[in-house]
Amino acid sequence: MIPPEIIEEIKFRCDIVDTINAYVPLKRAGSNWNGLCPFHSERTPSFTVFPATKSFYCFGCGAGGDVITFIMKRENIDYRAALELLADRVGITLPQNNDNMRSEETVRRERILNMNREAARFFHACLYDPNIGREALAYLTGRGLSGAVIKHFGLGYAPDGFGALTDYLQKRGYTAEEMSTGFLCGISKKTGRPFDYFRNRVIFPIIDVTGNVVAFGGRVMDDSVPKYLNTSDTPAFKKSRNLFALNFAKGKCAERMILCEGYMDVIALHAHGFENAVATLGTAITPEQARIMAKYTKKVIISYDADEAGQRAANKAMKLLGEVGLDVRVLKVTGAKDPDEFLRKGGENAKEKFKLLLDNSRAQFEFKLEGVLSRHDITILDERIKAAAELCQIISEVWSDAEREVYIGVVSDKLDIPRDSLKNDVKRMIKKREKERRTEEKQTLERTTGGWGDRINIDKVKNPYAVNTEEHILGILLLYPENLAAVKNGSLSLTEEDFYSEFNRRVFGETMAHYDPARPLDFGCLSDAFSPDEMGRITSMIVRRQGLGDNGSGVLQEMVERLRGETRQKRLSEAGREVDAIEDLLASQRQKLKK
Ligand code: UTP
Ligand code: MN
Repeated sequence: MIPPEIIEEIKFRCDIVDTINAYVPLKRAGSNWNGLCPFHSERTPSFTVFPATKSFYCFGCGAGGDVITFIMKRENIDYRAALELLADRVGITLPQNNDNMRSEETVRRERILNMNREAARFFHACLYDPNIGREALAYLTGRGLSGAVIKHFGLGYAPDGFGALTDYLQKRGYTAEEMSTGFLCGISKKTGRPFDYFRNRVIFPIIDVTGNVVAFGGRVMDDSVPKYLNTSDTPAFKKSRNLFALNFAKGKCAERMILCEGYMDVIALHAHGFENAVATLGTAITPEQARIMAKYTKKVIISYDADEAGQRAANKAMKLLGEVGLDVRVLKVTGAKDPDEFLRKGGENAKEKFKLLLDNSRAQFEFKLEGVLSRHDITILDERIKAAAELCQIISEVWSDAEREVYIGVVSDKLDIPRDSLKNDVKRMIKKREKERRTEEKQTLERTTGGWGDRINIDKVKNPYAVNTEEHILGILLLYPENLAAVKNGSLSLTEEDFYSEFNRRVFGETMAHYDPARPLDFGCLSDAFSPDEMGRITSMIVRRQGLGDNGSGVLQEMVERLRGETRQKRLSEAGREVDAIEDLLASQRQKLKK
């Protein structure tokens, strides 16, 4: 559908290292690049990008492929949509005569985004319509927001009643189906008609880093519940991958970022000049959000509500953010329940006061130390031991040796326990966790790429040996396309018939179909025919052979012979079973005739 030279051009301009580095911070490791895998949770990088073969592969979870596979998997979109996205970034226009030519997914996403923009405009206009939005505007102003701030954030008002927005959007050509997919309306069970989802609420539009209106939050103006309604996931929005106000914060947070609980906190902070504040969207922070934050900043200051729930949430967030290598601090507002209230109470000097809090935000260790000490009475021996065990556990999660040394010193002084015994405890815990992590990673690896219960190549359980041999053969073929020439001209005898497993037969078939002796083969061309998970498996074949010394034609020849032997065996036993089945049938018919 899309000419190969255009795909080649896109891949040439979207360098795999640069493209992936925008999602996953990569470090050079010899001729390759390493980073923490965005597709599973890990603490030691097993995600590798190979510029030479323009591929990536995760040794932990088996994800792999080319730059297009990466985008498909990361953005959760299909092949065509991934190409469109990359093409768009580098200013290439894909050939298309009409909308049917573009991926349905892309069209649907764009329609939803345009519809959201219309909706945001509508809400904003309602807020400023004195007949409709007077009360809402008074509410926002009453919470200390200036007109400039309201406009900056594009705040709005969703009128009371059931059809205000729905009618408006319907007149502009959006269908009920689209509105309901986009979470702007529900469909009445009785009448089958759409009705507005947000009613009589002030509206906070959520805008992604590229400027699209992706979702909305809506707050009631009194004490009714639920206090907030939020857009759920839509084809254009994933709650777990977005942060409120990151569109404003992204250029202002290289040094540090403030993470809050609520929309109002973020808005108040921005209004007071802290434009590096963001919030999650009504949920606890997710690993994906943590990774996104790590992309934009080095240090995160958690600034959650002062109540116990907020502090517990801060603890959890601290762990997640620490895991992606961020320097994490916790700020505790005093004399107010949240940053918004703190700033409002602060009057003239609110900004300076908050700045002071920021600069004094406690490092995570101190924060946790305080928590442990408040829970145990360390004058009692038993309690002191418990406190020591908890603190050692906390210290064992710290990455840097030097930092651990410092903390061990602090605990040793506080609890009056010798440094060395604390040190040994910490060491033991680190070892134990390391072991657990290894087993876990190994299990994931076995689950996703291993022979046992293989989802990608279901034939592997039947004969792992044969399938392994196939994988080596395909690895060499894809790594050294001159072998493909040998297959094509018959000097190497290998056909689809020789393959034992259905999956590898398909890989071979597609590879040969794409192979053109006139141009270098890019294994990425298979993305069209294989799912991202399947691409991961294909990449693993290449990566595995790459790491081995001898990939010559002798080795290849030998493996082909071996495979052929295995496949012949399979055919024979299948044929045998067939003969048996026929004989059984005949025997039973003879029996019947006798009766
Ligand atoms: P808060 O209750 O702290 O809200 O919830 P807030 O933003 O500070 O608003 P005010 O100051 O009480 O008016 C924090 C965040 O949790 C989510 C919203 O994203 C909110 O901003 N939330 C809260 C919901 O999603 N649903 C709810 O019912 C309540
Ligand atoms: Mn609040």
